Amino acid sequence: MKPMIRILAILSLATPAFADSHAMGDAAEGAKTFNKCKSCHVIANGDEVIEKGGRTGPNLYGVIGRQAGSVEGYRYQDSIIAAGEAGLIWDQASLAEYLVDPREFLRTYLDDPKAKSGMAYKLRKGGEDVASYLAEVGPEVASEDEAAPADG
Ligand code: HEC
Repeated sequence: MKPMIRILAILSLATPAFADSHAMGDAAEGAKTFNKCKSCHVIANGDEVIEKGGRTGPNLYGVIGRQAGSVEGYRYQDSIIAAGEAGLIWDQASLAEYLVDPREFLRTYLDDPKAKSGMAYKLRKGGEDVASYLAEVGPEVASEDEAAPADG
């Protein structure tokens, strides 16, 4: 092995999580992973349906950059609404973390051991990819600046 190649190989072994540092996740992979979400979620921008799916969960169009628990007309559980009112605005990192264990995420976020989640699903792996996919299919979000706090 040439020395330079060896150094690169060692570096990439040492930092697997950051091997792909330009993006959090892989949107193309996330599009495939989204198949696991379709039984309960659509992605639809008004009449433009990006992903067909069930209606058990809220429409995920534009979820990145949106206040948690805020799709109009959708009946959420109390905890996710409380989290949104406390300032939770989904970004790729928080969404990826939520998917691993929604109830645990809300309990930690609200510092409330009794918080509940209406989402009876856990995604063990690939949350970053799905988050990246949802960001890609959603509207443009100013990701660098802090999202503006919700009024009120
Ligand atoms: C079994 C049905 C089901 C599956 C499968 C499911 N979800 Fe959900 N999801 C829900 C429900 C129900 C809620 C509302 C949670 C609440 O009220 O606490 C929800 C909420 C969410 C939210 C919060 C949305 C908001 O407006 O704040 C996100 C994000 C989300 N789901 C993403 C996903 C993704 C991504 C997948 C696939 C990896 C997935 N869900 C799979 C049922 C599901």
